[in-house]
Amino acid sequence: MLDSRISRRAALMGAGAVVAWSASPARALLQAAGGGRVPAFVDDLIRRLTVEEKAGQLSLMASAWGGSSAASLNPPGNSDFPKQVEEARRGQLTGVFNGNGARMHRTLQTAAVRESRMKIPLIFGADIIHGHRTIFPVPLAEVASFEPELARRTAEAAAYEASGTGLDWNFAPMVDVARDQRWGRGVEGGGEDVLLNRLFAAARVRGFQGSNLKSDAHMLATAKHFAAYGAAEAGLDYNTVDISERTLREVYLPPFKAAFDAGALSTMASFNEISGVPSTGNPWLMNQLLRGEWGFDGFVVSDYTGDEEMIAHGFAKDARDATRLAFLAGVDMSMQSGFYRTHLPSLVQSGEVPQDRLDQSVRRVLAMKAMLGLFDDPFRRISERREESRSMNRRTLALSREAGRKSIVMLKNDGDLLPLPRSGKRIALIGPFAAGQHDLIGPWCVYGDDKKAVDLATGVREAVADRNSIVVAEGSGIVEALPGGIEQAVAAARTADIVVLAIGESQNMSGEAQSRTEIIVPEPQQQLAEAVAAVGKPTVVVLKNGRALALEGAVANAPAILVTWFLGTETGHSIADVLFGAYSPSARLPVSFPRESGQQPYYYAHKPTGRPNPEGKLEEYKARFRGLTNTALYPFGHGLTYGRIGYSDLALSARGMPMNGEISVSARVTNSGRRAAEEVVQFYVRDRTASVTRPVRELKAFRKVALAPGASQTVRFVLRPADLQFIGLQNRPTVEPGTFDVWIAPSAEADGLHATFELTA
Ligand code: BGC
Repeated sequence: MLDSRISRRAALMGAGAVVAWSASPARALLQAAGGGRVPAFVDDLIRRLTVEEKAGQLSLMASAWGGSSAASLNPPGNSDFPKQVEEARRGQLTGVFNGNGARMHRTLQTAAVRESRMKIPLIFGADIIHGHRTIFPVPLAEVASFEPELARRTAEAAAYEASGTGLDWNFAPMVDVARDQRWGRGVEGGGEDVLLNRLFAAARVRGFQGSNLKSDAHMLATAKHFAAYGAAEAGLDYNTVDISERTLREVYLPPFKAAFDAGALSTMASFNEISGVPSTGNPWLMNQLLRGEWGFDGFVVSDYTGDEEMIAHGFAKDARDATRLAFLAGVDMSMQSGFYRTHLPSLVQSGEVPQDRLDQSVRRVLAMKAMLGLFDDPFRRISERREESRSMNRRTLALSREAGRKSIVMLKNDGDLLPLPRSGKRIALIGPFAAGQHDLIGPWCVYGDDKKAVDLATGVREAVADRNSIVVAEGSGIVEALPGGIEQAVAAARTADIVVLAIGESQNMSGEAQSRTEIIVPEPQQQLAEAVAAVGKPTVVVLKNGRALALEGAVANAPAILVTWFLGTETGHSIADVLFGAYSPSARLPVSFPRESGQQPYYYAHKPTGRPNPEGKLEEYKARFRGLTNTALYPFGHGLTYGRIGYSDLALSARGMPMNGEISVSARVTNSGRRAAEEVVQFYVRDRTASVTRPVRELKAFRKVALAPGASQTVRFVLRPADLQFIGLQNRPTVEPGTFDVWIAPSAEADGLHATFELTA
């Protein structure tokens, strides 16, 4: 039921730019690959494989070709490439991941299809999280665009570059809802909101996979990490998840369902446990829910040594036990531990793993290789020529710049300090991110290169009339003070008319295993900000960040603040486009910026509690902290433009809605400013009373509207009872009559325009 809600909403309300729904893209893809059936030769092949060769088809290893930057992200364990080639010859490998380009892929594929006994092609996977060589904004940044179609386009462009080198399979998109900003991997996903996560998950899958998996310009997508990886206690990566089935179904699972409905045909089991059971060994999650209830047709891969880690979890006794548990729970393929190829043969011999089960997983993997066209031509994606010709071409770079500027959120712009004039002013660019080829592309880039990206100083110098009007001072290191740095920065600020202060997180402060206890601007940079603020020049803070930050002191008090995340190859150009007004900021926060780190996990769609914290003066014995209201400093959905946006004329088509009816809610949005703007009009709902308590607000739809100076537009949202569904007491989708609040508002915590209606039985 949840799926049809997305489609109906997309069609009727025009939420984002979601493409029209089609019943089952996964099925359509299967059909395109041979009538929706597993090709007959696959079963014939399975009959001829030894049990060792079958286990080999279920064993994936990191590429052993030295020098790949993947090696630093995930040490390969085996850096002996000739040995890996030999494994391919012996049929001990289904494929490798994070390898090193067309030449490496060709070498291994040749060994597999010319020299192995059964000549089964290898599959080549990789983490193409936000671009291959052309790097796009980190996924979280791109979600700030509130434009799923943009994500589809960048995913397609990333697949185009990556598949040119021989990559068939992407370990993306990450669709984990992240509500605790301490967690470092929030940067790879869709932020805190369920609807945004669903829309972006689907868009990215469509971009990576296209409409035909045999296309040499597309790749198989993996929805990861299944499931609830983002719900780790204390935001500590890999940590325990203890969660109700209701919250799982209502918050953490819907983005996966959206990805599968969009056609994703692989998924990755998450590292974490859920309520005592590691996902990698969870038959309820994979056999019952994923395959049984949802009818998932693809295959499941473990995360990197996820099966082995069940021993450390205290769930599996030893390697053999871990293999049995993971395999029987529904993990078809093991990544990196080598457990399956070592232990599956003896588990089948002893009868602990039924032969049929083994064949079933092998069939899923071989069917996927067939769908990817690998049996027709194992070299179809491997091309040294396309590897170069598709790399970093002009169109892709232009898309990176467009995606970059569409991802920048303007938090604040007191006195219309922004946009800055292009001439007549001296600008001091201060901070560790003002200049230099570092921290531009962001975390999780296996093939990207900071040295090929545009830094802020370059972008700014190109945008202004006189390059000499720009002075640069580093001022501070990222986590350490720079001797004499503050003095130099203060001197630069004194000579300038305007300061642009580029501060924040390095790219290795977010991403895998990069949880932080304090989500603040690192102390030496905060000191730099205080010293520069004391000079008294108008200051624009340009934040670099992979998560929401708790802004304080001179940073929070600066008259203008831009959130620029990690924007990728065209960073400097994208930021300059916004700074100097070539582009009016249009992005909105996909995560709430809290007042203090200690509020984590903080998300707008929280429950009210029995003692809600009222607006205004702090009251005793309410749900708030000592001395701090539990609201956001900048809430989810917040973001300003260069226009002057006003909301008026809220209208409901009726005050009541029957169970088989619908209601439309509209408002007028006006730009009374002198500059064109794009406003993200947001539609929130609250169910006042229900048999299960409901969040204080939930985003149900949004629309991005372009408004010329002086223009106004009526934006209409259509709501049906199915949109008011929640996971009820029996863990099933439920709709209950009652009173509902609706808001059309510029953010999750803005008053906006409000009304109520009744849903009648
Ligand atoms: C990450 C996955 C990734 C895999 C392979 C793991 O550490 O959790 O997201 O796909 O490594 O690089």
